[in-house]
Amino acid sequence: MKVIQYQIKRNSNIFLGGDRHVGNAARSQDAVDHFKNALNSKYDGCANNYYVDHGDNLEAISSDDRRFEFSTHKTLPFDELDFAIEEYRNIAFKTICILYGNHEYKWNRFGDLTAKLVKYTNEKYGSNIEYGTNSCVIVYRDENNKFLFRHFAWHPMSGRLNYAAKDPDQKLGNILAGLKQRFRDRWGNALLMSCGHYHQLIVNKPKEQLLHMEQGGKISKEYATARKVDGYIHPDFRWYVCTGSFLTFYVDGLSTYVERSGSIQPADTGYAIAKVRDGRLVDIDRIKLV
Ligand SMILES: [Fe+2]
Repeated sequence: MKVIQYQIKRNSNIFLGGDRHVGNAARSQDAVDHFKNALNSKYDGCANNYYVDHGDNLEAISSDDRRFEFSTHKTLPFDELDFAIEEYRNIAFKTICILYGNHEYKWNRFGDLTAKLVKYTNEKYGSNIEYGTNSCVIVYRDENNKFLFRHFAWHPMSGRLNYAAKDPDQKLGNILAGLKQRFRDRWGNALLMSCGHYHQLIVNKPKEQLLHMEQGGKISKEYATARKVDGYIHPDFRWYVCTGSFLTFYVDGLSTYVERSGSIQPADTGYAIAKVRDGRLVDIDRIKLV
């Protein structure tokens, strides 16, 4: 856990991505290139872009790992680290923090490779990326140091989101509810809660609730939502994001471990963008890359 204080412009785009898996042959270079270009371009009329990296930067699967497959995994720890650092060229100075995921964790016998990724990237490009550990809370403030909102970012180390359902609407409902359930008791005052790991690209928006109340002998009604964002926020009034990945499911000539698994379903390649306008988090877009 790490608490990070960070100043952003009142009109900003916060890119929410991760699961880059350098070293996995099923990684989509086109998707990574698209992401890097987008981070350096205007999005929705705004060029103030920032990035929160949700981990699994390295594939980190050795030949003694049951997920190892000869056509998919060829690289060595420090080759993957070098490539991951090189790929931070042009985007390091837009990156707020990097988390570690379960994949890097598998190579802890070589040292904390995410800490080294952050350290060497900062040294190489003169950036100021924070090491977010496994989960972090980013406190966003504007240029005048006025509080905007909190963001809890995390890389769960195990588990899958439940999507078992016969009907697609029910399936989506299960996924949205499952994502919220993962987060709801982990932090109390974050308006935005995002995670990597599941390789699903999901945005669960805050819900409004119609409330009837008595005031001065009269019945009144209002819609409850997270108007005050500096304090406890009811779980139904927060934003929840699962940030997708840069992997593809099937690759001609490979048999990847997700393909071999009977319980992992094909998932979206892509990332999400949280839009902050005049200091308020107004919407989050899913950027699906085919
Ligand atoms: Fe991953």
